[in-house]
Amino acid sequence: MSKLQVLEVPHPVLRQKAEPVQAVTPAVKQLLADMLETMYATHGVGLAGNQVGELRRMVVVDCGGEQPDPIKLVNPEIIDRSDEMICHNEGCLSVPREYADVERHARVTVRYLDENGHPQTRTAEGLLAVAFQHEIDHLDGKLFIDYLSPLKRKLLLKHLEKRRKKEARLAEEAEV
Ligand code: NI
Repeated sequence: MSKLQVLEVPHPVLRQKAEPVQAVTPAVKQLLADMLETMYATHGVGLAGNQVGELRRMVVVDCGGEQPDPIKLVNPEIIDRSDEMICHNEGCLSVPREYADVERHARVTVRYLDENGHPQTRTAEGLLAVAFQHEIDHLDGKLFIDYLSPLKRKLLLKHLEKRRKKEARLAEEAEV
């Protein structure tokens, strides 16, 4: 297994639509394992293909907390959504250390292929439902910041840019 590089905004691949996986091959299975390892190493609860530069419809999620619950999804599709909504403070490995409240469906049912190519459906609520919606958005080139008002989004990205510059400056100083 190997840890992959996680792309960050404004990388253009994050804004592209991922293509369906034609067959769940050993290479796909390996990529899912690498994505899961990368997600754990970066302390995320979900990771989508786009985020590691793979424009294929693949997602890994683990919202299990103390009890691990890794879920690997190929070609995931939301087939049912509750009318009820929930608000959750979301973050994203591709928008590092910035958080904002986003409204999502409180419960969703997802249809997908597992890592052995078998069709599965899973109904989730709470954090797992949020993660499914957030990750499937990634496959369509959508980020959680797209749900914010233009002003809020602008401020968040400005804050991220400011922090990046500061970190780069500190790193430079440390090298001298
Ligand atoms: Ni994300």
